[in-house]
Amino acid sequence: MRIFLVWILSPGVWAVKGPKQVTADQGSLLAVSCSYEPGYELNSKYWCRQSFLWFCCTNIIQTSGSEVTVTQGRVSIRDNHTAHSFMVTQSGVTLGDAGRYSCGVKRKLWFSTSHTTRVMVSAAASTTTEGSDVGSSGRGEPPVL
Ligand SMILES: *[C@@H]1O[C@H](CO)[C@@H](O)[C@H](O)[C@H]1NC(C)=O
Repeated sequence: MRIFLVWILSPGVWAVKGPKQVTADQGSLLAVSCSYEPGYELNSKYWCRQSFLWFCCTNIIQTSGSEVTVTQGRVSIRDNHTAHSFMVTQSGVTLGDAGRYSCGVKRKLWFSTSHTTRVMVSAAASTTTEGSDVGSSGRGEPPVL
């Protein structure tokens, strides 16, 4: 029984690692890099936004398992098989982007495994007319899901 439990739990122990928290300035580029255990090179990597339940995750973007950069709206994801890591970037960060996200690896014969990253957005440091900023950018594009 004990061996069975260890076997159950071990695949997820450090399959995906990443930052616990990242902070991006409003309007800047957010970049999160997550690394994965060797052996998962050809699996899809994904980035999703968590709702109040950690297992309810709105998929934002994912790779096909290749190293090709996938871009959707403001978000792109790129896997690096050599470095065993993938980079997610999100441009034009808005305050609404703050929240909990998962970077993860899809597994065919097992549940996906992922790491939770908290994204914090700090209001633009510049003292210039915040109001017109918000107006001109229309508070960012609607999220593409
Ligand atoms: C992947 O990572 C390796 C090792 O860190 C690096 O040398 C290489 O340039 C990276 N490849 C790409 C496409 O970024």
